[in-house]
Amino acid sequence: MSPRTAAAPEDAYTAEPFVPDHGGLTALRRAAADCRGCPLHRDATQTVFGAGAADARVMLVGEQPGDQEDRQGKPFVGPAGKLLDRALEEAGIDPGETYVTNAVKHFKFTQAEPRKRRIHKAPTLREMTACGPWLAAELALVEPELIVVLGATAGKALLGSSFRVTEVRGTVLEREIHGRPERLVPTVHPSSVLRSDDREAAYQGLVADLKVAARVLA
Ligand code: URA
Ligand code: SF4
Repeated sequence: MSPRTAAAPEDAYTAEPFVPDHGGLTALRRAAADCRGCPLHRDATQTVFGAGAADARVMLVGEQPGDQEDRQGKPFVGPAGKLLDRALEEAGIDPGETYVTNAVKHFKFTQAEPRKRRIHKAPTLREMTACGPWLAAELALVEPELIVVLGATAGKALLGSSFRVTEVRGTVLEREIHGRPERLVPTVHPSSVLRSDDREAAYQGLVADLKVAARVLA
């Protein structure tokens, strides 16, 4: 690790100097707790690292922790996570056999006044890129058979800025990511289901995409 004394220029945002090269997921999680790779650590409560089995066959990648995740320190424990677990079970994937993480590990939000509700704010490409070394390290250690890409931010972080979830959702993609051949099934973000005008239809769409993932794993 190389603690910085002076503020890094904006385009130098990166988690890289904080990522240990040995020690497995435990060492990664511990080191991520002290990441200062971009400014998002300043206002968030804590780093929310990935969670789940180190030998999971499927890795689910979301955007960033939400309010509940930021407080509890675990990914997908709030409303979106509950919906995701239900959809996974309905699609025939045991949520307990997945590894769940996010493209960005700190909660980004706006808050009109102290003690008012914290409103989720989408991470910038620069923040996603800064946080990328953590996701790359998780992928290298878990070596999932399949990555389920939850929404646009995860898609852009893994597949580049031209990613469009509507164009590829529910399909199996094969791409090289960080030097490894990966299989991916993109779908919508579970939060978008909660915001949808037709929640039931949006939920069924998510389940249908997850069934594609379940077939790959079968
Ligand atoms: N949304 C995400 O993308 N990730 C979480 O962990 C929770 C909500
Ligand atoms: Fe580090 Fe990622 Fe948090 Fe930025 S968002 S400080 S890169 S863990």
